[in-house]
Amino acid sequence: MELPFAESYKIKTVEKIHRSTREQREKWIKEAKYNLFNLRSDQVYIDLLTDSGTGAMSDKQWSEMMVGDESYAGASSYYKLKNAIKDITGFEYFLPTHQGRAAENVLFSAMIKEGDIVPGNSHFDTTKGHIEFRKAKAVDCTIDEAKHTELDYPFKGNVDTEKLENVLKSYPREKIPLIIVTITNNTSGGQPVSIENMKEVKKVAGKYGIPVFFDSARFAENAYFIKKREKGYGDKSIREIVKEMFSYADGMTMSSKKDAIVNMGGFIGFRHKEHFEKATMYNILFEGFINYGGMSGRDMNALAQGLYEGTEFDYLETRIKQVAYLGNKLRKHGIATQYPFGGHAVFIDAKKFLPHVPKEEYIAQTLAVEIYLEGGVRAVEIGTLLADRDPVTRENRYPELELVRLAIPRRTYTDNHMDYVAAAVINVFERRNSIKHGFKIVKEAPILRHFTVELEKV
Ligand code: F0G
Repeated sequence: MELPFAESYKIKTVEKIHRSTREQREKWIKEAKYNLFNLRSDQVYIDLLTDSGTGAMSDKQWSEMMVGDESYAGASSYYKLKNAIKDITGFEYFLPTHQGRAAENVLFSAMIKEGDIVPGNSHFDTTKGHIEFRKAKAVDCTIDEAKHTELDYPFKGNVDTEKLENVLKSYPREKIPLIIVTITNNTSGGQPVSIENMKEVKKVAGKYGIPVFFDSARFAENAYFIKKREKGYGDKSIREIVKEMFSYADGMTMSSKKDAIVNMGGFIGFRHKEHFEKATMYNILFEGFINYGGMSGRDMNALAQGLYEGTEFDYLETRIKQVAYLGNKLRKHGIATQYPFGGHAVFIDAKKFLPHVPKEEYIAQTLAVEIYLEGGVRAVEIGTLLADRDPVTRENRYPELELVRLAIPRRTYTDNHMDYVAAAVINVFERRNSIKHGFKIVKEAPILRHFTVELEKV
């Protein structure tokens, strides 16, 4: 008999999770104003809200926590992290930050000003938020293939370099401070960007003298897909691929809460000293001295160790196969998802799932609430609520895709949990024709509204 695939680790510590009844959940979600961010964690059975900061650290990471150096300046933990970043990404200079959006805040304070244009591939919501907060504009140049959820295409995260070049041609050089390539492309479904595409982007950017930064939250998952799907990379190690990927960037922002498998942390990597020096002042102002930037010494130690563990092939294979395991169960039942599955989550196509709910009533949010009611599973809306209003017209922006994301925390849940999640989603699917209405907004913030929005049933 062929030996089956199994996890590349075993469990040392466990945490109790809480079952509930449908009646309880109906009460709780109403009290939460139908916003899943407002639920308490003990009101959730399986939490797939995010894969960010929700992973399980290893015994080695925990032991690194014990030997953190908490010196304000010159801590050994800082140098441990600096060496790990240099070793894995190749970037000579770095600034620690407390998480990914803090890295964006620091970098963009140094680089972006009012009226600027920042092209990229489906900028993540905090990235876009930080750009628009500075009265600059994020221009999405993702390939059109990403919009067709059922189209089997290996690198749906790619930048359309023709769209990119059109943007670069249309504005003066000084209006475009940088290009941001998000690897993997979270918003379009955790979809990878190919090495070939990274190379092309760098070439086009070079023609216009514009630096390229990678939003690298899930860079290791991206490297795994390159190894599996891109010609010529099958025999290369994940670390070799990662090194090559970053060789096509001038710098990176990192939310370490994803592929570095820590609960909190981030950093910015730089190739050029002048970029690093420009950002340093903002790091000190917003995050802390450049030797810790919002992290404890022990956090930097765990992060350094996590960068190595997160770039091991066996770990990545375990993780990405679990995402596909859940995705395949849904697809077998005729549920449309972004396909191929991404690295960190299964994205359900909510427009295809709930054809009767009008877009003005927040289709993806309606589905996410139904999935919670069904089984206590918390997913997240990647749709109209997340897309916010147009900063100028204040009209709702209706994205082409209304998605519900089932994000899988790293090394946290078992395949039995995935079976449970699949059953809950399938049960909703069986009664989808009875779901005709969604929600209306009763209260919202001017930017990043999805975190705090309050809703009422239509
Ligand atoms: N960039 C990407 C691609 C992200 O997915 C995130 C966070 C960030 C930047 C910001 O990093 O949270 O550390 O400040 N994504 C989380 C998610 C929140 O659920 O996808 P952060």
